[in-house]
Amino acid sequence: KLRSSKIPIVWVLGGPGSGKGTQCARLVEKYGFQHLSSGDLLRDEVQSGSAKGKEINEMMVKGQLVPRQVVLDLLKQAILKNVDNAKGYLIDGYPREVEQGEDFEKDIAPCSLVLYFDCKDETMTQRLLGRAATSGRTDDNAETIKKRLVTFHNCSEPVIAKYTQKVVSICADTDTDTIFAQCTSSVDKVLAERN
Ligand code: AP5
Repeated sequence: KLRSSKIPIVWVLGGPGSGKGTQCARLVEKYGFQHLSSGDLLRDEVQSGSAKGKEINEMMVKGQLVPRQVVLDLLKQAILKNVDNAKGYLIDGYPREVEQGEDFEKDIAPCSLVLYFDCKDETMTQRLLGRAATSGRTDDNAETIKKRLVTFHNCSEPVIAKYTQKVVSICADTDTDTIFAQCTSSVDKVLAERN
């Protein structure tokens, strides 16, 4: 478990292509928080060529969720690596199902804020198709994008419903500067409450 309850922990949630990674990169610059993306951690495992990585890749290509213990272990390892220097955490793409939220709060720490990137399916699809040629991601194709959206609506939207008290809904259909301003106003509030 994390020792200091003063460190803000922000879950960054939203459908595929809603702009989580883009905004997290900017938030890291502004606040110096640690950005941990469950998708990136899984892709690193796939890249390593391990047997576990091969199984993970099969699920990602189908747009399915990877088993929750696998993701939790990777996340815990990544958090522990830098625990002494952390000013805050942006947990991007996690939790993606209600049970993952429970795992996290039990094993790691309570979440301070949930930024939910609310975005239309059409917008997300267009963005992902737009980057498909250059992303090198095996899940950026029309068929898998459809499945990722279904998984998001079925498994991940209930997470947003469960944490309504902590959720700030961000209108993510717009330009990156406008989205960023919405994010910083929420993070600033959390930081102010802690000081
Ligand atoms: P993950 O890697 O988390 O992918 P995702 O959620 O599908 O989202 P992306 O990373 O593709 O998009 P994003 O929201 O970060 O948007 P981005 O900023 O890149 O997960 C992949 C897979 O891993 C899952 O399907 C699952 O199999 C597995 N997985 C991951 N986490 C898991 C978990 N917790 N449990 C179980 N399995 C898990 O932007 C997208 C594009 O749009 C970019 O080209 C960007 O330049 C552009 N863009 C961004 N913002 C804007 C804007 N405002 N206007 C115009 N273009 C924009």
